[in-house]
Amino acid sequence: MCGILAYTGKGNIRNIVKKGLKSLEYRGYDACGYAFAYDNNISIKKEVGKNKIESLTDSLPEYVEKNVYLLSHTRWATHGDNTEKNAHPHYDCKKNIFLVHNGIIENYNEIKNDLLASGHKFIGSTDTEAIPHILESIDYISTPEKIFEILQGSFACVFLDKKQPFKLFIFRRKSPLIVGKDKNTLFISSDMQTLSLFCNKFIEIKENIFYQLDTKNIYILPENKKIIYSFTISSFFNKKEIESEKENIFMKNEIWQQPETIKKNIPILQSLINEPASKLNKFIKKCKFPERIIIAGCGTSWHAGLIGKIYLERFSKIITQVEYASEFRYNNPVFNKNTWFFALSQSGETADTIGAMELAKLFNIPIIGIVNNPLSTIDKNSDFSFHLNVGTEIGVAATKSFTMQILILFMLSLFFAKDKKEEKKKFISAIYELPEKIKEVLNKEDELKQIVEEYFLSSSNAIFLGRGYNYPTALEGALKMKEISYIHAEGSSAAEMKHGPLALVDKNLPVVFIVGNKNDITYEKIISNMHEVKSRNGKILSIVNQREKKIDSLPSDKVLILPETIPELTPIINVVALQIISFYAGILKGCDVDKPRNLAKSVTVE
Ligand code: F6R
Repeated sequence: MCGILAYTGKGNIRNIVKKGLKSLEYRGYDACGYAFAYDNNISIKKEVGKNKIESLTDSLPEYVEKNVYLLSHTRWATHGDNTEKNAHPHYDCKKNIFLVHNGIIENYNEIKNDLLASGHKFIGSTDTEAIPHILESIDYISTPEKIFEILQGSFACVFLDKKQPFKLFIFRRKSPLIVGKDKNTLFISSDMQTLSLFCNKFIEIKENIFYQLDTKNIYILPENKKIIYSFTISSFFNKKEIESEKENIFMKNEIWQQPETIKKNIPILQSLINEPASKLNKFIKKCKFPERIIIAGCGTSWHAGLIGKIYLERFSKIITQVEYASEFRYNNPVFNKNTWFFALSQSGETADTIGAMELAKLFNIPIIGIVNNPLSTIDKNSDFSFHLNVGTEIGVAATKSFTMQILILFMLSLFFAKDKKEEKKKFISAIYELPEKIKEVLNKEDELKQIVEEYFLSSSNAIFLGRGYNYPTALEGALKMKEISYIHAEGSSAAEMKHGPLALVDKNLPVVFIVGNKNDITYEKIISNMHEVKSRNGKILSIVNQREKKIDSLPSDKVLILPETIPELTPIINVVALQIISFYAGILKGCDVDKPRNLAKSVTVE
């Protein structure tokens, strides 16, 4: 989705913008642009298409003697075609104001019609273009509140005005925007990751407040009140990873990091749960034990929530409902007194999940964030946050964040489970074995690549099936396959096949059965479902979590044997294999696996 990088002060302009915009690339973009003021001249340039950051930034000077006031942007089209006219920065009629924007202006049509009627000229068809024209028509220095009265929707804006030299102006609602400070420079970005490339002191930009920046200070308008920098971030963001320019490495690295991400987090989670004085235990003391939990998320996070529901209901006996955040927020949901709300999100900036969380907040119930990005909107607005603590995830496809979401939900369900002492011990020792078992899956790279060649490359469709814990794994396997390789894939409960999808099966359709292990309650059931597909000549790949005699009699064309673990943890083992399969399907089909077409890492609009 769109990204903003701006700065005031001195430095190598070309390097700063190149480095900043490249670090925003992972969010997905179709066009990019910049505007900068130097000696009261404003230069502007835009480029349309992917991979245009190099040519855009090559047009920038390296050093200039004096201070520069610069804004730049990557656009992921939402309103209006992908054309130069619709790319940012946008400007007013007199070309005084140059503005970049993230978010969506919901009432832009109305605003645009009013502005057209009063003589303003528009050149493009985006919602953003309305904003510089409004700024042109109001006195934002003395009455900045007007802009917040007029605009509806979400926005993070940075702009320059020829009539107000040596300044940058910023304001936001819902969409994030952060200011950072280095020695002689102020940086502004929509993305904490980008900002952390340049500085380590940050200030949070509040909603519905209009700020003015020079090269050293930030002031609130209209009072011109100077604000003090308030916090510093930890070393969460790995500069080396963010800056890496090699292609197709992030997704693979992130899959391969999973033994480490799991290993380092087990003791952290254990002490959070076990230490009576831990932050979690202190928090729980202040709340009533949950009678019901609502989990909201999107995409892969929603899949993790589905697995979490089984844990929470089975072990904690807490009624749990899992919702697409996008639907939940508009369905007039019912909240009763002892309901807790879990917002599940890698980025912590998914607009729909934030919207669902804001709705839940109105009911004064405990809000738990399970997020990867510290200081993200969901993290900041939760009453208690679990951090995935898996490091930056740059590849657009969620991988290491998914396995950690599952582990956190599993451990949390054990925390809420009142008895089951012996069972818990068994579970914890299985958790400690996970990193080595994931390594065994990674060691099957060649076999997995071969499976891709045999099963998926010649097909434009595939079906992924599972039951119980591995039904959400099947949904996730299908999602990974379609987003990374563009092979159309559907995930389903294996039991649902005979209610319709079975009609699709023929000898050419790859059908992946995620069988699990023999101790799973649904083991025999899924084998019967396999027979139903085999009888229709389906081309079956089955994934099992143990080596036992029965495997030879499975009605499969191929069996992939993965390490054995308790049924509860099979999704973590199995999904790693499915991630590798979709990775190689993408690579062998020549796709950009780190940045699949049309997708964005952080979905900051509804
Ligand atoms: C798929 C994927 C997406 C995200 C979804 C939610 O690989 O990454 O489906 O899971 O956009 O994002 P977060 O978790 O950041 O809220």
